[in-house]
Amino acid sequence: MIPAPFGLLAELTHRCPLACPYCSNPLALEPRADELDTGAWADVFRQAARLGALQVHLSGGEPGARRDLRDITAAAHAAGLYTNLITSGIGMDVGRLRGLKDVGLDHVQLSVQDTQAESADRIAGYAGAHARKLALAGAITEAGLALTVNAVIHRANIERLAEMVALAASLGADRVEIAHAQYYGWALRNRDALMPTRAQVQAAMTTLDRLRAEYEGQLVIDAVIPDYYARRPKPCMGGWARRSLNVTPSGRVLPCHAAETIPALEFWSVRDHSLAEIWLHSPAFNAFRGEDWMREPCRSCTHRHEDFGGCRCQALALAGHATEADPACALSPHHAAMAEMAERASESGVSDYVYRGR
Ligand code: SF4
Ligand code: FES
Repeated sequence: MIPAPFGLLAELTHRCPLACPYCSNPLALEPRADELDTGAWADVFRQAARLGALQVHLSGGEPGARRDLRDITAAAHAAGLYTNLITSGIGMDVGRLRGLKDVGLDHVQLSVQDTQAESADRIAGYAGAHARKLALAGAITEAGLALTVNAVIHRANIERLAEMVALAASLGADRVEIAHAQYYGWALRNRDALMPTRAQVQAAMTTLDRLRAEYEGQLVIDAVIPDYYARRPKPCMGGWARRSLNVTPSGRVLPCHAAETIPALEFWSVRDHSLAEIWLHSPAFNAFRGEDWMREPCRSCTHRHEDFGGCRCQALALAGHATEADPACALSPHHAAMAEMAERASESGVSDYVYRGR
């Protein structure tokens, strides 16, 4: 039986003033003219709730680039969804935040690039971004909204991991996500400049253990081992087409944010099909649902019900086919090559980023 989706990632727009080198926006952005309008998003939220979804993440790009964000948030709340805003903070201000809270926004996830303003602004590709984020964090908690700080970790900031956690605590966050860069799309393009060394990663894991004990009861610290230095893959997306769906700005529905990197997949749109039809019957959602698609070593592996073979997008990018085991797995024949690639990238000496649109 196909389970109900738990959550919906609504990519309201691909527009964003920042240009982070690990941006999760696709390499080819959907233009503003193609974006779903307010009414279409409201219909998506109602359909998602009827399907069983409990929460929606209003994302982008930068969702603050949508002038109708208040109406979109109100529609998500009216549909009965727990509503989380994923923002860079640029384009938001106290007044806008309060307006969102008034119409039912429950939670804000704010990204920070580093603890040092100069480095943070360089990573974001936007002068003054860091100061604006810190100011907005204060407004979020003052408005009574729950705050999660999202810190993407890579070679330029991994040694300030403890400072990032301290920053999140000082901003009044309930949770901090230590999110090692995921090497798809822009991050894959910037891999040589972003990849930390093995020694840096090991030191970071030790630091995390210490920090979890230090902040117990005060701040939840979420973190995963970065794929390139792991021995077991992460259960990406909680398994393909098992827990969530992504709707792009133009209404295409994806099983994960990077699914469009898998060229043979056919994605359906909410403009042509109901969300239920897409969830149950669309070719992209059924491509890697369940276990029938698996090859060895996953097919007979006892871990396949826990990690679902890892990430399909990473399998394609590094092993050449989306039905391969994720090379983050030590049982993958491509695992050693992945580890060597990480070592090479981490010692490349590259420090310049390729920024989106520049
Ligand atoms: Fe997971 Fe496949 Fe590796 Fe088994 S072989 S641990 S199922 S990725
Ligand atoms: Fe697509 Fe992992 S990012 S399955």
